[in-house]
Amino acid sequence: MTDPTAPPFPATQRAGFSSGFGVLAATLGSAVGLGNIWKFPSLTGANGGAGFLLVYLLATLLIGLPVMMAEIAIGRQARANPITALVALSPRRQPWWLIGVAGMVAAFLISSFYSEVVAWVFAYVAKALRGSLLSSDPAVTEAAFQALITDPVQSLLWQWGVLAFIGGILLLGVTKGIEAITKKLMPLLFVLLLLLCAFSLTLDGAAQGLAFLFLPDWGKITAPVVLTAMGLAFFKLSIGMGTMMTYGSYFGNDQNIPATATRVMAADLCVSMLAGIAIFPAVFTFGFAPSAGPSLVFITIPAVFAQMPFGQVLMAAFFVLTAVAATGAMLSLMEVPVVTLHERWGLSRPRATVLTLVLLMVVGAGCALSQSTLAGFQPGGRTLFNWADYVSSNLLLPLGGIFIALFAGWAWGADNFRRALSNQGTLHNGALARAIVWVLRWVSPPLILAVMLRGLDLI
Ligand code: PFF
Repeated sequence: MTDPTAPPFPATQRAGFSSGFGVLAATLGSAVGLGNIWKFPSLTGANGGAGFLLVYLLATLLIGLPVMMAEIAIGRQARANPITALVALSPRRQPWWLIGVAGMVAAFLISSFYSEVVAWVFAYVAKALRGSLLSSDPAVTEAAFQALITDPVQSLLWQWGVLAFIGGILLLGVTKGIEAITKKLMPLLFVLLLLLCAFSLTLDGAAQGLAFLFLPDWGKITAPVVLTAMGLAFFKLSIGMGTMMTYGSYFGNDQNIPATATRVMAADLCVSMLAGIAIFPAVFTFGFAPSAGPSLVFITIPAVFAQMPFGQVLMAAFFVLTAVAATGAMLSLMEVPVVTLHERWGLSRPRATVLTLVLLMVVGAGCALSQSTLAGFQPGGRTLFNWADYVSSNLLLPLGGIFIALFAGWAWGADNFRRALSNQGTLHNGALARAIVWVLRWVSPPLILAVMLRGLDLI
């Protein structure tokens, strides 16, 4: 008889992260991504500066961190991919594993549009190194960006190149691939960021940039802004789709889950703030309006750097930094289907990686061609790129978050969850674990529901 409480894949048979720093680097690598560069700083500046930061911190305490801890604890307890983990921990064969299936779909959808934006970043690294981006006229930098995204061959080839690069790292495995690479990339990210910040703070517009970012404007904190901050916490911390469950399954038994999650959240916030400090003083110094999204990264920033001394070097550093941030996030996105195909369908890990890669090349092509060949194909008024973003961010991630909170708070058993958070009672964090269970039961689900209804324009 096998022991029914034993994990489906015992730790000894499964790869995992080999050190505390590796755990931190990989998990932070997943959280840090494009979101830190084009979403967080602009949202902070536009929505009330320090006031928005405070709301974001509250959203993280009530939703982000508890769901992240629940995911990691579930993954570590079961030592399996999200679907198998939820089958193993569910009482009486309840269908909680559907969360894992929705997570797989979300991972595919996010990967398919996210990889296209990462593709533009990689293309810009090459352009920056060649010096072909240097123009202080935003009309010129906009034309260059349009030329890239409306060219189907370039869009597709850069995307497939990015997917193959990430797939190549995943082929090396969890320890020698994900962990080893993120251990190198995360310190590099901080070095590049600090260098860019130091330079940016010497510019004339530094005070204006910092004021835009941080000066509190409480009048801007409206209900929609609060819901935006909560939605941002989801995307930023890579939760609601099984990524953190998957990485949790690689955590060692002695890892302190609440402490690690909190460190990751704090370091991620730090990266977002530093990115804002690197970007906005420069944007104001050269008389640009602060924008967000692709136009900030691919149109405004090249025009800003073109006017600076050492502009080409600094621009290359900026795009390398963005590529580094995006690599860790992409690794975690692709790892979810890879490990699920490997463990559930019995494919070898290399085969599961190649199959994921091929599937993503096909699904992702729809997003890659959304600005060119398929630009006219807009069922329901959205391109495939926009649908992938909309369905994953507004529906699947919040839905996943609600059910993960309900599973951890109710179905799994509060005692089991608390024991997992306290490493079977060795950590003496009982009060904290009780508070987390309480928040997951009563506070997170209704708040996430509000975020979802807002995202779907239903409230
Ligand atoms: N956290 C990433 C970012 O902020 O860019 C995005 C992301 C990565 C979302 C991985 C979800 C995920 F599973």
